[in-house]
Amino acid sequence: MDYVGIDRVIFGAVALDQPRRFFSDWGLRRISATRSRLTFATGNGTALDICRDGMRGLAPRIAPSSQFREFVLAVKSRRDLERLGAELARDRSVDEQPDGRLRFQDDSGITLSVTVLARVPIAAPDAQSYNQPGSRRRVDTIASVHEQARPWQIGHIVFFVPDVDQAEAFYRKRLGLWLSDRYVGGAGVFLRWARRSEHHNVFLLKSPHGHSDLHHLAFEVQSPHEVFGGGRAFAAKGWATAVGPGRHPISSAYFWYFKNPLGGAVEYFCDPDFVTEHWKPHQYRVNRFSEWHLAEGIPPPPANAARPSLSAARAIDAARAATRAAAAPSAATGGTRS
Ligand SMILES: [Fe+2]
Repeated sequence: MDYVGIDRVIFGAVALDQPRRFFSDWGLRRISATRSRLTFATGNGTALDICRDGMRGLAPRIAPSSQFREFVLAVKSRRDLERLGAELARDRSVDEQPDGRLRFQDDSGITLSVTVLARVPIAAPDAQSYNQPGSRRRVDTIASVHEQARPWQIGHIVFFVPDVDQAEAFYRKRLGLWLSDRYVGGAGVFLRWARRSEHHNVFLLKSPHGHSDLHHLAFEVQSPHEVFGGGRAFAAKGWATAVGPGRHPISSAYFWYFKNPLGGAVEYFCDPDFVTEHWKPHQYRVNRFSEWHLAEGIPPPPANAARPSLSAARAIDAARAATRAAAAPSAATGGTRS
C-alpha cells in the first residue's frame, strides 16, 4: 500500500510566541491561531501544528530535548485506513482521534497516526527552467531570486532510534514502506512511503544516546536558488544554522539545516532523486552526508566592503556619470529639444 505523504506534524510548546515567529520566518502560511494552538501550512497544504503544553489530546514527548509529539501519514482511502488499523491492533493500542485519524506508537516509542487524505491535491507551480549546453529552456526570462523561501511540502522526517534494524522492520513489514538505501551495521536506513517517490520520506538513524528523538523535519522548495536565497533570508532574521548549505550525495539534494527551537532541526531542500520499483538499494559503508557543505551558513560580506561585482558596477556608473557631465555644456547649447 502506498501513502500519499505526510498530512501533518505536531509539536508541543511552552509558549507560542517564538514558534510563531520561527515558522512564519521559515515561510509557512499561518492558517489558524488560538491561545492553545497554531497551525501553519506549506504550499501543498501539509500542516504543522504547535500546541501548548498540556493541551488535551497532545501526544507525549519522545525525548526531554524535543517538543516533537506526533506525525501523521495520509492514505488514499478509508479502506486502506481500516486495514492498517486492524493490522496494527494485533499487538498495540490503536486510538481513533476525534478527527478520525488512527494513532499508535511505533516500536521505537514514536507516536504517529494514519489518516485519510482530506485536502484536495494542488498542482505545484511550474518549476524553474535551467539552461544547459544544448538545451536552452529558459528564454527571455531572468532566473528567480528569493528573498523568502516558500516551502512547498514536508518531504521527509528523520528520527534517531535506539535500534535501526528493529525500526526498519516495523516501518517496512507493518506499515509497508519501501527500502531506498541503507548504511550497513544498523547505522541508518532510508525509506520511502510509495513505490514511486522521492528517495526518502522517513530516515532512521542510530541514536547516539540510546533513545528516540527527532533529528530533523525537511521542507522541499523549488530550486537551489530558493535553498540559498531563502536560507540567507532566514539567517538574516537571526535564526541559527545547524549545518549548510551543502549537497547530499545520497538523494542528490541541496540542503540547508537550521536549529529548531522546538527540537532537532528543520531543513530546506530541493532536487531530490525520484525513485521507482526499478531502484536498486545501496549498502553504504561510510558516511556520505555531504558532497560539500558549509558549516555555519553563507557568511555575509564584511561591513563596508563592496563585493567585487558591486565595485565594478559602481566604477562603470561613475565613468558614465563623468561622460555625461563632460557632454552636458555642449548639449545645453545644442538647440531645441524635440
Ligand atoms: Fe533531510
